[in-house]
Amino acid sequence: MRNIAVAGTGYVGLSTGTCFADMGNNVTCIDISEEKIAMLQRGEAPIYEPGLNEMIVRNMKAGRLHFTTSYDEALKDVEFIFICVGTPSGVDGEADLQYVRMAAESVAHAMTHPLIVINKSTVPVGTGDWVADIVRRSQPEPMDFAVVSCPEFTREGSALYDFMNPDRVVIGSRSPEAAEKVAQLHLPLRTRIIMTDLRTAEMIKYASNAFLATKISFINEIAVICEKLGADVQEVAEGMGFDRRIGAQFLNAGLGYGGSCFPKDVKALEHMALVHGSHPALLRAVIDINRDMRRWAVYNLRELLGGKLDGKRIGLMGLAFKPNTDDIREAPALEIAHMLRNEGAHVSGYDPVAMKNVARVDNQMRLSEDAYDLADGADALLVCTEWNEFKQLDLPRLRSLMGNALIVDGRNIYDPAIMAHHGFVYRAVGRAQAGNNGN
Ligand code: UGA
Repeated sequence: MRNIAVAGTGYVGLSTGTCFADMGNNVTCIDISEEKIAMLQRGEAPIYEPGLNEMIVRNMKAGRLHFTTSYDEALKDVEFIFICVGTPSGVDGEADLQYVRMAAESVAHAMTHPLIVINKSTVPVGTGDWVADIVRRSQPEPMDFAVVSCPEFTREGSALYDFMNPDRVVIGSRSPEAAEKVAQLHLPLRTRIIMTDLRTAEMIKYASNAFLATKISFINEIAVICEKLGADVQEVAEGMGFDRRIGAQFLNAGLGYGGSCFPKDVKALEHMALVHGSHPALLRAVIDINRDMRRWAVYNLRELLGGKLDGKRIGLMGLAFKPNTDDIREAPALEIAHMLRNEGAHVSGYDPVAMKNVARVDNQMRLSEDAYDLADGADALLVCTEWNEFKQLDLPRLRSLMGNALIVDGRNIYDPAIMAHHGFVYRAVGRAQAGNNGN
């Protein structure tokens, strides 16, 4: 049992803190938001992550998980503090480190004994050294501490599973003793532990996310070529994926990546490259292709609706950036809604869990009760998020509610033959139009 503090109760901090508590440690999570901490103290998670709320309550009841707004209180007897605060995109695509700075200053002021400060937030290469400088400069009296980078690789929607079953844990530090202690914390996970220096650990995180984003943009570029040539991108991806050097994951063509990580991290890496005088041509292409996939949706809707979107009623199926989350940051649905409205369309949307968040940021979107309500009177539907509940819809019922029965499937969740059988005009990403290849 170790005493651990975690700064930041967003997706990363809350799942990290709760999982460490579940492994038997004594964990205190800190956040500057009194509202969030009050909710958590009542046993309510401020975010949706499958299984998280139950795990929070279980560990609070066991006396292993605590929440506070006070660094003094949280740091009293701890050996480790994880920094898991947000690092949003700044004006030029650089990572905005104001929250990391605030957390580092707060740690420096509150620490009363030697500490290991672990950066889990995705931060530009070199930030570990910068955090060490801030802590050193902000301490009222000099006190020992070490900075360790331990980037997180969990996905929203499966954060708890990913945390408990990682492919690897990466630990970077200038202090071998601190790195060893952080490695010990992770031993119960029985996984490969990669020990390296601070900057390399920070770079491993960026390179991993940028590579995955590249896979997505790659398959999206292939998808658009498939459409022109009458090939089927899903079968192409399957055929590629069996090659173990390529791997089957992250080859789903669609409206592109979103969320709080890939868009921000690819831009931040591009920015780091630019300011250091290199020419990140591949990263730029990855970003461009991703943007083009949002345009792909608008282009196809416009074409199917007779060349004009003005006055058309379009329903967006799914608003979260991906299934199993309520996160709408950089969600394709919201970007596409904006583009459709610019051309005069009326946009409505439905999502099983993200609608509360959408209502906060987009007051023009009419929100529907379910997929059928969304289809009622719509000129076209666009699948933006591949929620399971969309996969087994009552297609004849859906068809009967729609005037035109047009579906643009931005996530390739339906079978074109079945859609045609039910009388839909159906267009999917990277799959030949009926007639192009004899379908
Ligand atoms: C991603 C990484 O997968 C995690 O390893 C990492 O820890 C995290 O970012 C982070 O940096 O914090 P996440 O953003 O939760 O996790 O979501 P993913 O499941 O990776 O999906 C990212 C985006 O790619 C989604 O918009 C998804 O729809 C899209 N995607 C994914 C595709 O368009 N095609 C695919 O084949 C796979």
